[in-house]
Amino acid sequence: MVILDKKDKYETLCAQIECLSEGENNVVGVLSNISSAMHETFPESYFWVGFYLVKSEQELTLGPFQGSIACYRIRKGRGVCGTAWEKACPLIVPDVDLFPGHIACSSESRSEIVIPIIYNKVIKGVLDIDSDKADSFDESYRKGLEEMVNL
Ligand code: SME
Repeated sequence: MVILDKKDKYETLCAQIECLSEGENNVVGVLSNISSAMHETFPESYFWVGFYLVKSEQELTLGPFQGSIACYRIRKGRGVCGTAWEKACPLIVPDVDLFPGHIACSSESRSEIVIPIIYNKVIKGVLDIDSDKADSFDESYRKGLEEMVNL
């Protein structure tokens, strides 16, 4: 059995994401496959992985995801996702209980990372990943995920 380390897994995942999105304009389908690929690649740290998409000036709406049920809408500036959107920057939350206004879609969520998806300088949505363990995400995750989102 071949055991891949985190870097190998990211490289494989990036290649997979490129294949999954190339020449396909079915956005819901592509994002569904991407969240599935991410969930399968990192099951130990991605308890919930998915997308919230910009619906209006003030609201994100739930997009394709893998994991437990989640809230449909998030206002700008609310929770981790709404804050990452408002500030247009990635957020790493090592302990969700210490993040003021964290939206607890699942009581099992302990740490979280959110990466804005920016296209032509406009934020189209965010990639949200939750872990059921505290302190699951660090700068190496942020870098890897930003690369992925840029694909
Ligand atoms: N915890 C997020 C809400 C989305 S769920 O984690 C799927 C937040 O605070 O924005």
